[in-house]
Amino acid sequence: MAGIFDSLFRMRYGSVMKKFEGIPGPTPIFPIGTMSEFAKRNPWEVFVDYEKQYGGMTLCWLGGEPTLVLNDPNLIRDVLITKADDYYKDYPIKALRPVLRNTVFNLNSPEWDKLRKPHSHPCLIEGLDSWLESQFPVVKSVVDRHLSKMRETAGEIEILDKIQRLFFDIFNSIVCGPQFQAGGYENYYKMTVVATRRMATPQALLIPPLDPSFHSAMSAHYGSYEKIVKQARQNPDPAANDLLSIFLRQGSEIPDEQLVDFLSEFHVGGDVSSAAGIVNTFQFLNDNPEIEKKLYGELAEMIRHKPDYDLSSIGESTLLDHVLRESLRLNPPVQVFGRNVRKDRTTTLGGREIPPNTSVMIVAKAVQRSASHWKNPDQFDPDRWANGGVDANPIGSDYFFPFGRGPRMCVGWKIAMFSMKIVLASMLSKVFVQTSGSFKQSLHCGVVETKEVKARLVPHQA
Ligand code: HEM
Repeated sequence: MAGIFDSLFRMRYGSVMKKFEGIPGPTPIFPIGTMSEFAKRNPWEVFVDYEKQYGGMTLCWLGGEPTLVLNDPNLIRDVLITKADDYYKDYPIKALRPVLRNTVFNLNSPEWDKLRKPHSHPCLIEGLDSWLESQFPVVKSVVDRHLSKMRETAGEIEILDKIQRLFFDIFNSIVCGPQFQAGGYENYYKMTVVATRRMATPQALLIPPLDPSFHSAMSAHYGSYEKIVKQARQNPDPAANDLLSIFLRQGSEIPDEQLVDFLSEFHVGGDVSSAAGIVNTFQFLNDNPEIEKKLYGELAEMIRHKPDYDLSSIGESTLLDHVLRESLRLNPPVQVFGRNVRKDRTTTLGGREIPPNTSVMIVAKAVQRSASHWKNPDQFDPDRWANGGVDANPIGSDYFFPFGRGPRMCVGWKIAMFSMKIVLASMLSKVFVQTSGSFKQSLHCGVVETKEVKARLVPHQA
């Protein structure tokens, strides 16, 4: 039976197939291409396995659309860095458009170039590192407040939901000021649900969202940022230390509407991904009780000696840093992201010609678990980052790029790492986080989230 459908596929798409001749991959059938592989397993799991089955470059077919899946660090470097100008970002821009207006996330050159520069993007302020350090008490107080609330719940809590809400408040506080309590998490979340649904819909079938509750969520969400931007412009507080105020003081002339878009982009880019990273880390720690015990011990000791611990105390726990890196290596929240060859040119990849507009999927997870580079690649081993491991594999290098790499690398990665560390330190210095549940993975706004996870927060013994 499959033979008929293979032949039909070849009849319909033979001329396109010819352009990709010789690239290995599963056999496509009419009309779905190779998408039957996603019936039993998630696409991101299938893509990781292609590395073992077919090597670093696999040809798959999303219906009649040829897609190259890359699991090879050299090819990925070519796409994201060496030949970055030959590519543009297509998927999931159309899907995200109603949710995310004009931001670096969903623009391409030349508009993208104009925004991704120091006086045009708040995440690129001068002195970002020292500004971040100054945000330690702000982030810590948001975490402490949320943790107290979580601890009021007897029994188990929905940990992913709680951590997503936590990051929503962290980012609002550091970007708009600690006094800014946006509320409105539900509005933001509603937008991400619509975005996620649209990302799973074939591009050709996308129509503008019709649901009125989506539009009221959008206007409430953007409305709260419009207000804060207007206030910051009209009554600037010279002592304010939030990102928005600093950015404006450094002389940005970008229009208010653009600024509002940036503030919203922070949440769409950062909340779900950072929360997924934290929940994955809890899980890795639960599965590795020896490491868990050591880390809990280190952090509890820190808080015993210094109840008002500061950033440098957290910095002293290299284990914390290594645990987070190891979690992002084994289970990067953004496991797959895409590019397309520019419509006006043919490029070369791995020594062969690739036609205009071909879509390419970058798979971080297989490379970050490559046996040719990592010893015991599937093992959760934070110690691999000790004794020069961090310098040998910096964030954004060939075998470790949980935030992407090259000119379009995550603009918020330093803020994410900083905030995630404080969340882990502040929570784990006080409680054991014991997780249970089905640990089902699903995509939310392009992030692989572990859903259906309950957690019990057990206080440390005094
Ligand atoms: C653990 C947390 C995070 C992870 C794992 C993550 C991951 C990523 C990845 C892999 C990319 C590259 C996508 C590509 O090349 O197509 C990216 C881009 C981006 N991220 Fe993040 N991110 C995180 C947090 C944040 C935060 C806090 C922000 C806040 C501003 C942010 C904003 C963005 C933006 C705007 C881009 C697009 C940059 C561009 O195309 O120029 N992300 N992120």
